[in-house]
Amino acid sequence: MSNAPRLFGPETQGGIYLRGVGGAKPEIPTSFDGLEARAKQVMSAEAYAYIAGGAGLETAMDANRAAFARHPIAPRMLGGAGARDLTTELFGATAAAPMFTCPIGVLEMAYGEGDLAVARAASRLGVPMMISSQASYPMEEIAKANGDGARFYQLYWGKSDALAESFVKRAEAIGCTAIVITLDTTILGWRPRDLDLGYLPFLKSKGIAQYTSDPVFRGMLAQPPEENPLAAAVQFTQIFSDPALDWVRIAKIRSWTKLPVILKGIMRPDDAARAVSEGYDGILVSNHGGRQVDGGIGALDALPSVVAAADGRIPVMLDSGIRCGADIFKALALGASAVGIGRPYVYGLALGGEVGAHAVLEYLIAELDICMALNGRRTPSEISREDIVQT
Ligand code: GLV
Repeated sequence: MSNAPRLFGPETQGGIYLRGVGGAKPEIPTSFDGLEARAKQVMSAEAYAYIAGGAGLETAMDANRAAFARHPIAPRMLGGAGARDLTTELFGATAAAPMFTCPIGVLEMAYGEGDLAVARAASRLGVPMMISSQASYPMEEIAKANGDGARFYQLYWGKSDALAESFVKRAEAIGCTAIVITLDTTILGWRPRDLDLGYLPFLKSKGIAQYTSDPVFRGMLAQPPEENPLAAAVQFTQIFSDPALDWVRIAKIRSWTKLPVILKGIMRPDDAARAVSEGYDGILVSNHGGRQVDGGIGALDALPSVVAAADGRIPVMLDSGIRCGADIFKALALGASAVGIGRPYVYGLALGGEVGAHAVLEYLIAELDICMALNGRRTPSEISREDIVQT
């Protein structure tokens, strides 16, 4: 067998067209709009609102997309990019492409096996998975499904430091190679789509499996969650977030683990500079898919100043608003070392479980590969600021 990297673009595109000769059309739509529309048809109103929605007037979601539109690619001809290698080293993992799955909570609302199906799909493709604090399955089960796949753990640091420490230790034990502290959700955003349905999944005991499987959390309950699920859910809502969280408190993580620690939600150069000076190992530029600060800046617009502040000393990644391969290309051009994929894979999951999530992730890699071929770029590190213009 050849060791040449897989040419995702021609393989995936060619496979679809070849099957089309026999009359078959892809079961999972290849465009984001088609994907979202089809997923909406199969998801419950509550599930769709939770996944698709954002904060307030959803202006931060719009800003995410507007930022990509304002940075068109200036295609470079005759770049000789016949052989491409999208492989990317990311916090101890070798990723098939510069991307990872974002930690999205309550995936059981999209598909029963939720995180387990995503873990299998990501592992098969060689895409690292960022396991969610709000997952529908305990991280130990997700890791089993993920097998040899690469994984990171996204930590919500709530009111209990002891619980945060327990999560970190469990994540280390299941082979996560980085801890990602989410900074932007120290209180849940104001989300009209969920509010108007009067629906918070956690109160229905969904998306709290990391907590109900945790010895520290269980120690906070008068009865085990299996006997009194409502009391467990209410306890979760009391402690899951903490707007009092600050730089001093999160520094405690260094005494809990030697794993690299990434800060997720940094959107400003001063915060980025502080992350570097406090010795953190990476930054994830993110506005939480527009779900937290209504009126906030788009992630891609925030990226260049954060990259400048990080000054090459620690990697900067991006999520929020990635919908196609060209978006990934643009984020890399503006200095991201990798990007997180969120809603697209959840819609794939809703439509086809593991197969659907796999298809969406594969499409994105294929589209990025084709975008690189058309722009004369053979590796992600060759993609540069000169490849795009700002309008
Ligand atoms: C949790 O991360 C949420 O955005 O609902």
